[in-house]
Amino acid sequence: MSQEQRFSTGAIAILGGTGDQGFGLALRFAKAGRKVLIGSRQADRAVKAAEEIRALVPTADVAGFDNPTATTQAEIVVLSLPFEHMATTIKGLKESLKPGQIFLSMVVPLASSIGGAASQMLQVWQGSAAELAESLLPKDVSVVSAFQNVSATHLRDLEHEVDADVIVSGGKDARAVVMELCKLVPGVRAIDGGPLSNARIVESLTALMIGINIRYKVPEGVGLRFTGLPK
Ligand SMILES: NC(=O)c1ccc[n+]([C@@H]2O[C@H](COP(=O)([O-])OP(=O)(O)OC[C@H]3O[C@@H](n4cnc5c(N)ncnc54)[C@H](OP(=O)(O)O)[C@@H]3O)[C@@H](O)[C@H]2O)c1
Repeated sequence: MSQEQRFSTGAIAILGGTGDQGFGLALRFAKAGRKVLIGSRQADRAVKAAEEIRALVPTADVAGFDNPTATTQAEIVVLSLPFEHMATTIKGLKESLKPGQIFLSMVVPLASSIGGAASQMLQVWQGSAAELAESLLPKDVSVVSAFQNVSATHLRDLEHEVDADVIVSGGKDARAVVMELCKLVPGVRAIDGGPLSNARIVESLTALMIGINIRYKVPEGVGLRFTGLPK
């Protein structure tokens, strides 16, 4: 199988796919016809989430597993966990990761992880949650960050398109794969966000957006759009 086929047809594992954001992205990918593997600490929770997806998208090719088993079977592994659980979870995947996999982080290091405000950020030594993930993962796994600025409410609402730009940061080849993946979510436009170090800027926008949601009373969450880009 070519690299292109591998990433355009291979399974997508979503670790934390039982939670708000991961479930939303799983729904969208399943609706678009991709094989989705929900990951959880407890396989039975993942199986239940997969059943919920099938109830909403009867054509869905989706199954539930514990996080390491989902990881072993996937070409693209999405991490959708609260920041405080990221490092332990990644360390538990060491035996399950495969060379050449793409590891997509949606994680935002919000201060609420340690009892602070969700509209504030934690300082991460590596620069961002995505770069922390990269520091913990084998070198032959490519880390990309995306979807940190899209709310779970919009992802889960299959009746509507997601009216948002998604900034994708990471190494050139893996970034291109994830930019293609973004096209599976109706309404989303992928924005080339450059190298993974830019994840520090992108993740922090989420904290800003949470503050805006509070001040403007938008519980479903505001979205980002860039103007002036060539078509
Ligand atoms: N929610 C949003 O609108 C949104 C938007 C943008 C970005 N994000 C980011 O996306 C990530 C996920 O957000 P979320 O709202 O989906 O989180 P969440 O619903 O609170 O949690 C996601 C999953 O994390 C797993 N988890 C909980 N405690 C754990 C632990 N001790 N160890 C390992 N796994 C644990 C749970 O899965 P199991 O119990 O099944 O293992 C849970 O379903 C966060 O970093 C968040 O900042 C969220």
